[in-house]
Amino acid sequence: MTFRLMITGGAGFVGSSLAIAFRRDHPEWDVVAFDNLKRRGSELAVERLLALGVGFHHGDVRSVEDLDAVGPVDLLIECSAEPSVHAGYRESPHYLVATNLGGTVNCLEYLRRHGGDLLFLSTSRVYPIGPLRGLPFEHRGDRLELSPHAGGAGWTAEAGISEAFPLAGSRSLYGATKLASELLIEEYRSMYGLRAVVNRCGVLAGPWQMGKVDQGFVVLWMARHVYGGSLAYMGFGGTGLQVRDVLHVDDLYDLLVHQLQDLDLHSGAVYNVGGGMNGSLSLRELTQCCQRISGRRLKVGSIADTRPADIPYYVGDSRSVRAATGWQPRRAVSDILQQIHQWLVDNRTQLEPILRG
Ligand SMILES: NC(=O)c1ccc[n+]([C@@H]2O[C@H](COP(=O)([O-])OP(=O)(O)OC[C@H]3O[C@@H](n4cnc5c(N)ncnc54)[C@H](O)[C@@H]3O)[C@@H](O)[C@H]2O)c1
Repeated sequence: MTFRLMITGGAGFVGSSLAIAFRRDHPEWDVVAFDNLKRRGSELAVERLLALGVGFHHGDVRSVEDLDAVGPVDLLIECSAEPSVHAGYRESPHYLVATNLGGTVNCLEYLRRHGGDLLFLSTSRVYPIGPLRGLPFEHRGDRLELSPHAGGAGWTAEAGISEAFPLAGSRSLYGATKLASELLIEEYRSMYGLRAVVNRCGVLAGPWQMGKVDQGFVVLWMARHVYGGSLAYMGFGGTGLQVRDVLHVDDLYDLLVHQLQDLDLHSGAVYNVGGGMNGSLSLRELTQCCQRISGRRLKVGSIADTRPADIPYYVGDSRSVRAATGWQPRRAVSDILQQIHQWLVDNRTQLEPILRG
């Protein structure tokens, strides 16, 4: 029997990258990308997917019938989402909740009825905003850092935020839909024997991410340097000291391969997944890298006001997934930026209308 893999959100940045990588490494598999093409730029993926032997199914995770129309699969990787942490503020949260939470429910029901395993892409934004903002920071050079040798429940200055970080408090509607999804996944696992792994990812980046102001800032930053347009440091005084760790989507793929090798072992696990301290950078440092690689200097503006879901610092402590799998990220941030730059240059005609400011 042919192994069947469905990736919901399969025309998005992560979904299409994973679909192509799985198909490349398993040409005998039937890989189906399922997507409603809501995200601008996802339509560009369809031709690429088909050319590389990935099937495309135009469907919506909010519809049980659309999922059922794919038929049974051995594995579902859930990558569909409204992925912006700012979604729902001063606008209806309906699409966000229906897709991110309702879509998970539909995927779980689909798997309960047809069988199949689940890899779920969750987010670091399940951790609450207030406690993250309240961590002790120091301003060092062009970035914030956690005060040296400090630590508390679920965090250390050396390794960042772990899975044990307390969950009380508000986390954005986006984060809440992901955390609620995680809870339901655990119930389906214990009640119906579903095999499922939850990966709480920090910032993911790489070619084919359609970066915009509210999601995908690494590509956005480099795209503005290559194609022009404006950039601004937003929030926390508008100085650009905010820090994130960045993981190449191909490193995520490598991790999922590890997890699939022993799904019985990893099922039920909730892992923080990210580039870690070595893969972290501030917005100011990102600007410097983009200048160096693109050879272009942009004047970056400053907006002091902090949006409700902004956090000044997030570096994920991935030690538990590293210990459980032996995995570790192999692509340095500078290589990720080089690769994104080359992709923007090579695909200018297609990408400039979408990514230019
Ligand atoms: N990119 C990151 O930095 C990052 C970080 C942490 C977690 N994640 C999670 O990873 C997953 C993939 O994110 P991404 O960066 O590829 O986002 P993306 O926006 O590029 O991809 C999401 C895809 O889902 C599709 N989609 C949206 N609503 C849909 C619906 N109702 N039915 C079917 N398809 C729908 C979109 O058209 C898009 O192609 C998401 O669950 C996101 O929350 C991403």
